[in-house]
Amino acid sequence: MTIRLEQPEDQAAVYQVNAIAFGRDHEAELVARLRGLPQTLSLVAVEGDAIVGHIFFSPVTLEGVDADRQLFLGLGPIAVLPDHQRQGIGTQLTLQGVEQCRQRGAKSVVVLGNPQFYIRFGFIPAAEKGLRCEYRVPEGAFQVLELAPGALEHCWGLVQYRPEFADCE
Ligand SMILES: CC(C)(COP(=O)(O)OP(=O)(O)OC[C@H]1O[C@@H](n2cnc3c(N)ncnc32)[C@H](O)[C@@H]1OP(=O)(O)O)[C@@H](O)C(=O)NCCC(=O)NCCS
Repeated sequence: MTIRLEQPEDQAAVYQVNAIAFGRDHEAELVARLRGLPQTLSLVAVEGDAIVGHIFFSPVTLEGVDADRQLFLGLGPIAVLPDHQRQGIGTQLTLQGVEQCRQRGAKSVVVLGNPQFYIRFGFIPAAEKGLRCEYRVPEGAFQVLELAPGALEHCWGLVQYRPEFADCE
């Protein structure tokens, strides 16, 4: 299994991976709408010739922070085909995705998801850093990972995803 940047010819397979893993089209459509926007990152997991997993990152804004000066990214969606799950592919996508975010100069990464999956990467409840999600979500589901010590110093308040996310509930 290898992980690499998504290429233009991967788009149909990435749509399928998301649609199958989530059992609906919302996340696949979301990726189709966000792809190519500035500061987005899309990685695929490949086995043989087949794309079996996908992870996507897009910029989020943080209240009172100049987005041109400090990059914050939102992780999601992440998807692995059901018959390839529980083999470490989601872990590798997350680890390599976060590392790419770091290399691109992002200060931190937020995610909305099951803490049981994300805690292993060092994500903590975003509320502990004074960050709030614009969506009503279960306690602890909104999480953050600082990519450098003190990255969130002087940063708190409302975090907002790209508006396209609002159509994906
Ligand atoms: C979440 C997902 C991407 C994980 O991919 P994966 O390749 O199965 O993940 P891994 O094999 O690396 O699993 C790592 C660990 O996370 C746990 N895990 C996997 N999926 C999980 C989930 N949905 N919730 C909580 N824990 C999960 C596994 O138990 C495993 O722990 P272990 O090593 O102690 O057994 C995959 O289950 C998926 O595509 N789910 C459907 C779409 C989805 O819900 N996306 C995430 C939205 S937050």
